[in-house]
Amino acid sequence: MDMFVVRGGKPLKGQVRVSGAKNAALPIMAASLMADGPITLHDVPDLVDVRTLSQLLGTLGVISERQADNALRLEVIDDSPVVADYELVRRMRASICVLGPLLTRRGRATVSLPGGCNIGDRPIDLHLKGLKALGADIRIEHGYVIATARKLKGARVFLGGSFGSTVTGTCNVMAAAALADGVTTIESAACEPEVADYGQLLNAMGAKIEGLGTPFLRIEGVESLAGAEHHVIPDRIEAATLLIAGAITHGEVSVENVCIDHLSAVLDKLNDVGVRIRIAEDPGGSDRSTLHVLPSEKLTPTECSALPYPGLPTDVQAQFMALLSRADGISVVTDKVFPDRFMHVAELVRLGASIHREGQSAIINGTEKLHGACVMACDLRASAALVLAAMAADGESVIRRIYHLDRGYEQLENRLNSLGADIRRMNDCEENVPVSLRLPQSIENSSSLTTSGHVEGAARLEDLRQIRVDSAETLAPLQSPAASKAKQEPAS
Ligand code: UD1
Repeated sequence: MDMFVVRGGKPLKGQVRVSGAKNAALPIMAASLMADGPITLHDVPDLVDVRTLSQLLGTLGVISERQADNALRLEVIDDSPVVADYELVRRMRASICVLGPLLTRRGRATVSLPGGCNIGDRPIDLHLKGLKALGADIRIEHGYVIATARKLKGARVFLGGSFGSTVTGTCNVMAAAALADGVTTIESAACEPEVADYGQLLNAMGAKIEGLGTPFLRIEGVESLAGAEHHVIPDRIEAATLLIAGAITHGEVSVENVCIDHLSAVLDKLNDVGVRIRIAEDPGGSDRSTLHVLPSEKLTPTECSALPYPGLPTDVQAQFMALLSRADGISVVTDKVFPDRFMHVAELVRLGASIHREGQSAIINGTEKLHGACVMACDLRASAALVLAAMAADGESVIRRIYHLDRGYEQLENRLNSLGADIRRMNDCEENVPVSLRLPQSIENSSSLTTSGHVEGAARLEDLRQIRVDSAETLAPLQSPAASKAKQEPAS
């Protein structure tokens, strides 16, 4: 397993280009299941999630071939498989995007339920409700969704839930409706740019979808869908992460290939926080701009909520929290899409942030200095937040479990290093942890261990192992491996 060793405190400077959007590319790849010809996609990032989906599609009779310049060609060579296996689906929730296309094109889909997730409950009841409304027969057996339909029929579907609409659910129902008999209307459809991009591809394949980007979609079913070529939109979450990277290090970074229309809430909030950004629109008239983050001395605290689009994306909530941990005062961050998405709080605190949770919100008391520490990534965007905080911290940090990051950011460390960051990818083992982090010198020099778990005096790790701890609740007893083995083995 890999980890990052980050040496912080360096302002970033330079230019970086945003990749194609992972969350658009994944459902779009799954749509290839419905095409009667090849689908060629441009600007598909080379990510673990993309490779996982290619593998899953491979088991469903789709061959995928990487081409130059991040293009990906997908073609169905066998339209008989209908089972999406747990072993692949559990690795990535977006695998659920094969459900609608399989059902509508092959009349049957057996797709594993994705299972648990670190950012909160992620049910798929709205996906199933929508497909049932189109006439699918659906049951859950042994952890699999088993959906059948001889021919789906257009219907009126309402996709709003307690936390807003559903992004991948809207894609699934839209796909199913595209090949159904008659007209489907989806109300409270997700308006995220990735959903609109998905609809654009379906239309390029011959679907008849109106209202993309709005909560009201009208889909007139067609007999078949053809192959097509499509450019994936730039990744707005990656763009936001790179802008925050510039801001949190007080750097000067130009972020290219940004659709500013997709980033309104992010840019508005960055402006509130005092991050100065200059927008250079494409002189050629395309919707791709370059955003220049200018050095800012002081960050202002703010209050913000993650909301469905066009609100602030939940996928940048953690990165914003990292930024606000350096603001000059108290900020409040709430997540109304995934109310439990706060596992990064404890890790940011390890880096010196002052954050505590109050129900659905986190209260952040900004601090001038973060300091290096060993931290653990718990999900994709939380990993990005930790990288940002570590780059802003004094000294070295270790970020473990970066496999989360590799799922959704293409070579993030190389791109940040090209801006002057100091991030090394290393094998996760004790020898690679910087000496400064094995037992922080500051603690070692000023502390020793007491029964309450506090460390005082010049204690060394080896010494700590010998200290008798009276309260198991304040500090777990530390034993030598031999002693603990002896305790476990029955006395002869
Ligand atoms: C997509 C994104 C993910 C992002 C999320 C919210 C992809 C591949 N992933 O995930 O990065 O964080 O949108 O913007 O595009 N819900 C239900 N019932 C359902 C479906 C969802 O109650 O059937 C709830 C969820 O628990 C959550 C909210 O609705 O609270 C939004 O979820 P949803 O939009 O479905 O997220 P995903 O499509 O899984």
